[in-house]
Amino acid sequence: MNEGLVHLHNFLRWIILVLLVLSIVKSYTGWKQKKVFSQGDRKTWLFTMIAAHTTLILGLYQWLAGRYGMLTTELPAGTTSMMKDKFYRFFWMEHPLTMILAIVMITLGYGVAKKAIPDETKYRKAFWFFIIALLLIFIGMPWPFRELLGRPWFPGMG
Ligand code: HEM
Repeated sequence: MNEGLVHLHNFLRWIILVLLVLSIVKSYTGWKQKKVFSQGDRKTWLFTMIAAHTTLILGLYQWLAGRYGMLTTELPAGTTSMMKDKFYRFFWMEHPLTMILAIVMITLGYGVAKKAIPDETKYRKAFWFFIIALLLIFIGMPWPFRELLGRPWFPGMG
């Protein structure tokens, strides 16, 4: 079962990235073209947030109880701290921390939609929250080319 959950966690990353890029395009064009805030835009931001929160829940499970979970795995023999082990430092700290920050940014971006502020401000603020989220996701991702931490592009590829 856990393998399926890791695959889902992997796959949802693409859903988040596609929706996040769409949210960025929509907030940028809304801002620059001084558009009236639309329900379509709100829904795109909402679906981005839902995908991010689902990935968060799956990630939290992996973090605690997955094959490298903090409650289910021991550090390699002779390693005194996770900070000294590149692999565990990444999956126990760096990846969760950057991704949780990214998800907070996505949540704040969606939150702007509900605020009683001018539409231009809504679009501008959401744009910056989403850009920061995208950068954090790029930084915190176990891309296949990353030494020691690299994971497959798509579920089940490696
Ligand atoms: C935007 C949010 C996130 C994205 C896009 C993301 C993406 C990924 C990807 C692509 C993998 C590799 C999966 C594979 O091996 O096929 C992964 C693994 C993992 N993620 Fe995330 N993640 C996110 C959030 C989180 C969070 C918030 C946590 C913890 C609280 C977390 C914990 C983990 C763990 C522990 C693994 C290793 C699982 C394993 O290989 O057994 N992730 N993540």
